[in-house]
Amino acid sequence: MEQNASETNSIRVGDLDFPPRKVWMKTYGCQMNYHDSERMLSHLEKLNFTATDDQGEADLVLFNTCAIRDLANQKFYSHLGETKPLIQKKDVIVAAAGCIAQTEGKDLIKKYKQLNFAFGTDVIDNIGEMVYRAYAGDKPFSVTTWDRSENYSIETKITHGSPQAFVNIIKGCDKFCSYCIVPFTRGREKSRRLDEVVKDVKRLVEFSGIQEVTLLGQNVNSYGKDNGESLAQLLGELDKIEGLELVRYTTSHPYDVSDELVAAHGTLKKLANHLHLPVQSGSNTVLQRMLREYSVEHYLGLIEKMRQANPQMVITSDIIAGFPNETEEEHQATLELLKKAKFDFVYAYAYSARKGTKAARGEDVLTDDIRGRRLREVMDVQEDVQAEVRKGMEGKTYRMLVVEKGSFKGETKWTGRTSCNRLVHFTPSDETDYLWHWVDVEVLTTTAFSCQGKLVADFGKNNGRA
Ligand code: SAH
Ligand code: SF4
Ligand code: F3S
Repeated sequence: MEQNASETNSIRVGDLDFPPRKVWMKTYGCQMNYHDSERMLSHLEKLNFTATDDQGEADLVLFNTCAIRDLANQKFYSHLGETKPLIQKKDVIVAAAGCIAQTEGKDLIKKYKQLNFAFGTDVIDNIGEMVYRAYAGDKPFSVTTWDRSENYSIETKITHGSPQAFVNIIKGCDKFCSYCIVPFTRGREKSRRLDEVVKDVKRLVEFSGIQEVTLLGQNVNSYGKDNGESLAQLLGELDKIEGLELVRYTTSHPYDVSDELVAAHGTLKKLANHLHLPVQSGSNTVLQRMLREYSVEHYLGLIEKMRQANPQMVITSDIIAGFPNETEEEHQATLELLKKAKFDFVYAYAYSARKGTKAARGEDVLTDDIRGRRLREVMDVQEDVQAEVRKGMEGKTYRMLVVEKGSFKGETKWTGRTSCNRLVHFTPSDETDYLWHWVDVEVLTTTAFSCQGKLVADFGKNNGRA
């Protein structure tokens, strides 16, 4: 597609003029989806689109969907329904991307007449062509093909001005946990080459002012398997990049956490003191039915090793309450695990049956009521554990990047994220704009859900570097 700027601020692409237009985007789901949305926006900018928060002024309405639990699907269907009055008022193109579109693209097009097109997770880099087709007058269409090329090669695109960036290093998931839709919505695992990722991050640090990167993938611990490379190796290389302050990665599967990776947490200076390691259940029989390929004992051993390698290490996790036919005893085992593991935070969900997955096929004796009660019990136990874990932060000083200014009961507060991934609030003593400053805060008071601190030192925007 050739592009020429004309006098009217329009961009000429192929046979069409693209005047300045607005895109309204709604993203559901995980960080990978948020990252994909940013990538799509950067492609759309080439077609003269800028983002808007006001759906009413949008020319293009784009939903980036999530299918992980039924609630995610329902939210999208209802928001899509709400676009009807909008398209009756003006000419709007409506499109659906992401995980629901990947598996249901054709049905969506048939069912929702306001949709111009739907497309899956592996073709987001072609969004420009699809928008072009829609403006060229093509009938509603869906594109859900998989990228068949052997290599997964991209360059990270960012549109925001913050020093934090997400960098995809592996896509897809080969694990097929029995409850999970992701292997169907994101396809098979494919890693980027280590050299390419290192170059990409160096470029972000040098030219885009990036100081913190989060390496992304549904199963980042599998990174590099297809190319004889590994996550620990990649982290070792990133540790050497001058100007880069902090490296995070998510999400990890306990099965693939290698000794090399545990050791990296003890030796690498830039690696965050945090690991999100979803355990899902504290019962070995449930873990077997989930096809998770590890035992509770293995999991507890792993986090113990992590904490030995790096005593600052903070572990967070995911729990599914009420897996099909979970017995009361199996559920109690999860509550016991929470007390032993002492997670800093847990995302807990009630099991939601996903069409096409193994767990959704058999019979299930549990009711929504039982699931709801078990979920509440998981949350209650974790809240107590969390309050205790956070109490341990009091009196300690943490280096953190200030990410937000807010107002709490009329008082200005700044919020930062520590290396161990906790949000800490502090009240400024002057008018300094602390956004993106690296600061030291001493934590004064904590509850299960919040930490208040006071500013001890301000290192400015580049952590004390010129
Ligand atoms: N790749 C990550 C998880 C991705 S999905 C991993 O393996 O840990 C994020 C979380 O959603 C999962 O950890 C799980 O706790 C939850 N989840 C996935 N499928 C679910 C389902 N069918 N019902 C309820 N929760 C689910
Ligand atoms: Fe889903 Fe399991 Fe893959 Fe995580 S590892 S994305 S839970 S199938
Ligand atoms: Fe949802 Fe797809 Fe992420 S199902 S959690 S958006 S990979």
